[in-house]
Amino acid sequence: MVCLGNICRSPIAEGLMKKHCQQQKLNWQIDSAGTIGFHAGEPPDVRSICCCKKHGVDISMQRASKIELQLLDTYDFIFTMDNQNLADIKNTTAIKLHHLFAILPFAEMTTSHVPDPYYGNTEDFDYVFQLLDEACIRVINKILNK
Ligand code: 4NP
Repeated sequence: MVCLGNICRSPIAEGLMKKHCQQQKLNWQIDSAGTIGFHAGEPPDVRSICCCKKHGVDISMQRASKIELQLLDTYDFIFTMDNQNLADIKNTTAIKLHHLFAILPFAEMTTSHVPDPYYGNTEDFDYVFQLLDEACIRVINKILNK
């Protein structure tokens, strides 16, 4: 799960994907990262932590990291929060990544991207949570061909 800073959106995506995988007894390796390393080592934004906590998802132990290109191949899927994250990854490698997708179009959602809530308010974080909750369920079903 990839966003820009790895402190707002992708930590929520990581937490939700882990929750849904656990509920469905899927032993999948889930991680998140940012396209920039500015916040590397930091916990998620306190607003992301609170938003998840309200719904019983604990993401407080996560720590931000910058995406490592050599790790891209070790995952079956790379999901970005928006098209800029997607373009940023594509622009840093000449290799065509067939397993790289913006998460909402992959999940066949009507919304195209997960908006960056960094300069937003609690409602913006709640909206990100709702979008990603549905997206994660749809992604799992799609991968499992359900
Ligand atoms: P994220 O949000 O990409 O969802 O983690 C942001 C976090 C930090 C910054 C921008 C977006 N920033 O400019 O530092």
